[in-house]
Amino acid sequence: MIRKVKGTRDILPPETRLWVAVEAAAHRVFAGFGYDEVRLPVMEPTELFVRSVGEDTDIVAKEMYTFPDRKGRSLTLRPEGTAGVARAFIENGLGQSPQPLRLSYLGPMFRYEKMQRGRFRQFAQIGIELLGAATPQADIEVLLVLHTFLSELGFADLVILLNNLGDPEDRAAYVARLKTELEGHRSELCADCERRWQTNPLRLLDCKVERCRELVADTTPVAEMASSEAKTHVAAVEEGLAALAIPVRRAPRLVRGLDYYLRTVFEVVSPELGEDTVICGGGRYDRLVTDLGGPEVPGIGFAIGEDRLVEVLPPPYRRRVLERPLAAVLPIGAAAAAPALALTRQLALVGITAPCEVTGRSLKAGLKWAGKIGAAAAVILGEREVEAGVAVVRDLARGEQSEVPAGELAAHVARLLRGSESDS
Ligand code: HAM
Repeated sequence: MIRKVKGTRDILPPETRLWVAVEAAAHRVFAGFGYDEVRLPVMEPTELFVRSVGEDTDIVAKEMYTFPDRKGRSLTLRPEGTAGVARAFIENGLGQSPQPLRLSYLGPMFRYEKMQRGRFRQFAQIGIELLGAATPQADIEVLLVLHTFLSELGFADLVILLNNLGDPEDRAAYVARLKTELEGHRSELCADCERRWQTNPLRLLDCKVERCRELVADTTPVAEMASSEAKTHVAAVEEGLAALAIPVRRAPRLVRGLDYYLRTVFEVVSPELGEDTVICGGGRYDRLVTDLGGPEVPGIGFAIGEDRLVEVLPPPYRRRVLERPLAAVLPIGAAAAAPALALTRQLALVGITAPCEVTGRSLKAGLKWAGKIGAAAAVILGEREVEAGVAVVRDLARGEQSEVPAGELAAHVARLLRGSESDS
């Protein structure tokens, strides 16, 4: 037997229903705020991620699926979506369209990570990017979209953790301070942090090694070293969120694992998956498009890990989606086979799930099958019913049945399924 690649998943029904429902909610909410979907390649030139996510991040240094194509060009399976959006913005001259630009995306991302709960090598993200607005109002909007979407899924107690990374110009003074404060403990840092010390000291705050975490816990928060403009910006974001009653909490050590961020950064953690399991991350990246050779276009966005999101969906939402009421259409005899499929079509077109029995089962076996697939009603069609233009509708819970004219079938079945929903 050939098995799937380690770290990938087969997502099967009925779980896929949750994915479909979550994605439909994302499209609906994002579209309401004016975000249109982009569909970008899963493969990009490796250089794109090296220059945007950053050479000394865990993602680029350790986690990318990078390979030469047949002509020797280095390609990478995208580990995240923002870099591709920035590339597409530049390549398609999207700066010419009315600004700001509101884009959304969803799809698979790839990171070669150690396997653990909620961590996969192929995982899906749902994200938005708002390009062309540098105001606090833009940050507030992006966080409002996030909050609205999660609320639509029934999450009530998720807290957004937020920090201020300051501007790149503030970084040198902060890094100098950080190094001074850690100097006495330098020999205790892990080998990775020793390298980060030279190449990208902000990443010291991102280390997962326990001792490194303890050491950075006592250092000056990065937000304290931010310029007054950056402080004013993030304060205005917090004020705006408070006015919209969106709960946020300052997280002074939050730096995010990607290099393109400045000023506002944020994450959402799920209590169910543990403090370390982030279901959403995002932030502002005003220099990214320029760093990739494009015009000066500020940006902010977030990405939600869809695998993790689906895993922690609130039980009532999960039930509502999974326990979709359905009817089974059961033809009896060859003459009813095609008309039965026509009934399925009639019901399907008005949004009623009504799969048809197509394996030639007897009525008795057909009813058993209907029970197994969780049908609340059976629509039974024999030769006589076909001729009379009716169908027999049986309430499978109560065992009652009645003959219904074809024209009234949809309304009748819908009523019955609604009733079965309120019973359960
Ligand atoms: P990120 O924090 O690297 O940010 O990833 C966003 C989310 O993707 C994480 O919070 C997590 O839920 C999910 N995720 C990441 N790695 C895995 C994995 N191995 N298995 C399952 N889920 C995972 C970004 O990717 C940025 N591009 C977000 C952003 C958009 N910033 C601005 N705009």
